[in-house]
Amino acid sequence: MAKTVPDDILKFFRLHPGGFVSGGDLSQALGVSRTAVWKQVQLLRERGYLIEAVTSRGYHLCESPDVLLPAEVAAAPPAVIGRDVVFLESTDSTNARAHELGEAGAAEGTVVIADRQTAGKGRLGRQWASPPGVNLYVSVLLRPPIPPTSASQLTFLSAVAVARAIEETGAPQPRVKWPNDILLSGRKVAGLLSELNAETERIHYVILGIGVNLNMRADQFPADLRYPATSLVLEQGVPVARAAFARALFRHLDDLYRSYLADGFGPVLGAWETFFDLRGREVEVDLQPNRLRGTVLGLDRDGALLLQTAGGTERVLAGDVRPL
Ligand code: BTN
Repeated sequence: MAKTVPDDILKFFRLHPGGFVSGGDLSQALGVSRTAVWKQVQLLRERGYLIEAVTSRGYHLCESPDVLLPAEVAAAPPAVIGRDVVFLESTDSTNARAHELGEAGAAEGTVVIADRQTAGKGRLGRQWASPPGVNLYVSVLLRPPIPPTSASQLTFLSAVAVARAIEETGAPQPRVKWPNDILLSGRKVAGLLSELNAETERIHYVILGIGVNLNMRADQFPADLRYPATSLVLEQGVPVARAAFARALFRHLDDLYRSYLADGFGPVLGAWETFFDLRGREVEVDLQPNRLRGTVLGLDRDGALLLQTAGGTERVLAGDVRPL
């Protein structure tokens, strides 16, 4: 069986930053023996944590690796998104795990995060390359009090949160490609896969699946990509701390979700449009099996794409857009 990650001990170190924590205090706070504390410290060291142990002073956390353990990424209340974090070293798809949690009644805002995915899902049945240790693979469980017909609005919300978290790393302006890709220098750096579990008039839950290419090297991308892809490290030349990025993403998601519940879709769509630069551009939309060509007029208030085509104005609800 895989060794469990000593999350409580990490939380304790975080509450006492910088100083030494005695083995006695730790064993009391965690309700385990001193030997158990020592074993947990060993486990953390195996995971890359640098922990000093000094006789009669105790333990000191000197350095943390860039891991996505709950103690590193979880948000503090009153934030809802990211308050409960389920971390998995490896899973087929975080969206699949989030569905299980949704069925089991997990709280709104629960996040599943994985170091690697063995069958990461992309849109339209595609695969999402998910090698270990480099990127972010996250699924957020929401239970919004909105009709199922409005659920796609939450994908716009995720796109804005991802774009804002990317901006915070100092990357050049991210762009959104309707409806749900995030681009840097015209290449895809993040993808969104929102999934819905609903009855005709009521949402049980929504899963916001978010994949962001942070530190992926060029040789880690699949050879048969349909759209040019990139990662933040390829664009900026410096690696991005995954845990810090995850915290920023959860913060932006939480802010936007609050604003969405209070003020509706308008402000979210307005924020999304600040990252959208295809207005006035000639594009081709893949509607599978058909294709549509036209000039982008903008979006309507539901987020549908408005295209000026040879045959008149078309309102497009879903499809893959390619600038010409
Ligand atoms: C796309 O095709 O652009 C969507 C990609 C979405 C990938 C993310 S990674 C986390 C979550 N789990 C999955 O299996 N897919 C999404």
